[in-house]
Amino acid sequence: MRLTGAVVLVTGASSGIGAAVVRRLADAGSQVVAAGRDPDRLDRLAAETGATTLVTDLSRPHAGRELAERALARYTRVDVLINNAGVGWAGPFNGMADSLADELLAVNLRAPMELTRALLPGMCHRGGHLVFVGSIAGRLGVNGEAVYAATKAGLDAFAQSLRMELAGRQVAVSTVVPGVVDTPFFARRGQPYRRRRPRPLPPDRVAAALTDAIANDRAEVYVPRWLRLPVAVRGLLPAVYRRLATRFG
Ligand SMILES: NC(=O)c1ccc[n+]([C@@H]2O[C@H](COP(=O)([O-])OP(=O)(O)OC[C@H]3O[C@@H](n4cnc5c(N)ncnc54)[C@H](OP(=O)(O)O)[C@@H]3O)[C@@H](O)[C@H]2O)c1
Repeated sequence: MRLTGAVVLVTGASSGIGAAVVRRLADAGSQVVAAGRDPDRLDRLAAETGATTLVTDLSRPHAGRELAERALARYTRVDVLINNAGVGWAGPFNGMADSLADELLAVNLRAPMELTRALLPGMCHRGGHLVFVGSIAGRLGVNGEAVYAATKAGLDAFAQSLRMELAGRQVAVSTVVPGVVDTPFFARRGQPYRRRRPRPLPPDRVAAALTDAIANDRAEVYVPRWLRLPVAVRGLLPAVYRRLATRFG
């Protein structure tokens, strides 16, 4: 999909990876609709990039569908949907409040489904591109992040299934699988990232890979690329993977 002139809706645009994606898209000449919760950060991004902004809380029921309708009311079409908004939580599953689990499910999984359902008919008609920002947590599972990992695994399965369903149609589907990225995500999930390795990547590395996936119709990108390796080991040698994961965490 050509980015120049494309109408692109980006969720989670007010911070981290989403804001970096908006900057790249604006540089490429896209008409960007930047959605997020924080109006002040969105206003600053709009002043810098010229993006249109929409404030929304995607944890609310039907918020995804409403956001899609608001974007269509503004531009009459959305060519590219980037499902990037996400929220984490770290700690023992036993101690996780139901309300937090509901929030993760709503923002990370339900809202992308609602947005996709609302925008897909137009895309099937005119062509389009769906992007899902997953996580290596959804591919491998993570100790202390059971619900977050489950939402991202669900998003992966949703994207993969849609890709099969839409094969031969005019709608492309890309999944972006980041590792550790230097954004407010960790502080917000209530547990800072403390490991020395892997080192957090700048959010623009993910934004570059994501926009490249749209421009060159890539089904799946890992950022960094070596993350394919543990996923392959887990698939081919699950017992070896489990031993390594227990040892190195
Ligand atoms: N950082 C990493 O290491 C990492 C690794 C793998 C995958 N990811 C994924 O990458 C995506 C972007 O995360 P990030 O690292 O850029 O984190 P971030 O800086 O915390 O940004 C998260 C974005 O999601 C939005 N968001 C959260 N809850 C929302 C809600 N209820 N309604 C609407 N928007 C909401 C936030 O909006 P406000 O700021 O306006 O609240 C923010 O724009 C997420 O899906 C995350 O799971 C991140």
